[in-house]
Amino acid sequence: MEHFDKKAIDQKVAEGLPFAHPLHNRFHLEMPFGLINDPNGLSCAGGEYHIFFQWNPLGCVHKNKCWAHTKTRDFVHYRVPELSLWPSDEHDKDGCYSGCGFAEDGAVRVCYTCNAKNDGVRTSAQRFGTLEADGTVRKDAIAVPDSPDGITEHFRDPYLFYRHGKRYFIIGAQADGEHPRGTALLYEEQKGGWKNRGELKTRLADFGYMWECPNLLRFGDHDVLIFCPQGLPAREYDRQNLYQAGYIVGRMSLDSMDLLQHTKFQELDHGFDFYAPQVVCHEGRHILIGWMGMPDKDEEYPTAEAGWRFSLTMPRVLTLRQGHIYSHPVKELRTLRIESTAKGIDAEMEKSVRETLFAGSEVLLNVMLGEARHVSATLTYGQEKLVFSYDRNEQAVTIDRTGMKKGGRGIRRFRLFADRTLHLHLFVDKTAVEAFFQHGEEAASLFVFPEKEVCPELILESDAPMESVTGCVWELDAIRFDP
Ligand code: FRU
Repeated sequence: MEHFDKKAIDQKVAEGLPFAHPLHNRFHLEMPFGLINDPNGLSCAGGEYHIFFQWNPLGCVHKNKCWAHTKTRDFVHYRVPELSLWPSDEHDKDGCYSGCGFAEDGAVRVCYTCNAKNDGVRTSAQRFGTLEADGTVRKDAIAVPDSPDGITEHFRDPYLFYRHGKRYFIIGAQADGEHPRGTALLYEEQKGGWKNRGELKTRLADFGYMWECPNLLRFGDHDVLIFCPQGLPAREYDRQNLYQAGYIVGRMSLDSMDLLQHTKFQELDHGFDFYAPQVVCHEGRHILIGWMGMPDKDEEYPTAEAGWRFSLTMPRVLTLRQGHIYSHPVKELRTLRIESTAKGIDAEMEKSVRETLFAGSEVLLNVMLGEARHVSATLTYGQEKLVFSYDRNEQAVTIDRTGMKKGGRGIRRFRLFADRTLHLHLFVDKTAVEAFFQHGEEAASLFVFPEKEVCPELILESDAPMESVTGCVWELDAIRFDP
């Protein structure tokens, strides 16, 4: 087991902020060094949102899984992140894996997976803990020592929820067998501890070999299961990443352990770099934060050369309408707009509109398509480019990263129905780009790693004059880290 010197690590983080390297993002949460992945422990207590995330403070590889912690009241000012939970005993010596957070009697509590490997055999135990005043998580005794019968060693990422005055957690798992199968189990809190209630039944058959990071949410009368299935083949308009992050909507019966009448699986985001999202519900708002990254694709993220890897998405509010989740960055982020930089866009019957962006920008575009059948929004970085295009005949969006030199490339495609107007909302950070289509009906998160340090230019083009293009561009300020 590595030695984690909290004091030295925390000091190094504080010294690395604000970021100096030009490729560091301005309004996406990231660390000055090490590798971050899944958001963990999202919770709200005393008016503060607590955000933990997976972090290897010792290198840019998937090892030494610890939890870092920060908190914010407004998603603009954050506490300087610090090391909060790290491998320290025989249960979690090979990683403090993902888990959830919740407020209890004013305290922030967490539940996480303790990962231990002995002679090639993994033990996955689940354990609760409490965030202390000094920023560290005090670990409780083990609550669930290992995966139950019929479940392999892949048993992780507990997410706590309440129903009818009782507490449960849902957890990602793999059912054993000739063809291991992804699933999620429910545990119910009872007097003597946590009881395995078995698998949550769904109509999803043959749906990957492992489900990671489940979240079980309630939107009015509907239950939403968010999870990350691994092992689904790519299709023409979806499932194009190595692993997926998506959801099904139905009504859960805890008696029959069944998610009844659920929708088909839909992805939460269609970009290249989105995985393992977690949701916290506070005062009726479902706020999602995702990991901007993808497991087993490290070679696509060149910032490791400069000492860090990956970011978190901006926090997004989710709303459910007719079985579909819409998402949009939290309204607090509007305060990042530097109002004096606002540039209005107002064009009629043009085939091309250009705007030079800032080092960090927000772009709102409302395109009345008119006769145009094909529209593209290109971000150019010198000779390099990232293209979002919409084909009205095909009713599909294509995101094309083949025009970038460094980092991951390739194409992603997804269905979108834009009849007469196309609405695009772009957040263009140094390397992280988040795009929202048709007022949050679909989203796409991805990185670009431009070779040149230039502000991108946005070029909107169409095959026939667009009836009108209106919108606005702002420079966005950086989020701030306070001691
Ligand atoms: C998802 C994941 C989780 C696991 C964590 C370890 O990215 O594989 O299933 O708990 O990362 O860092």
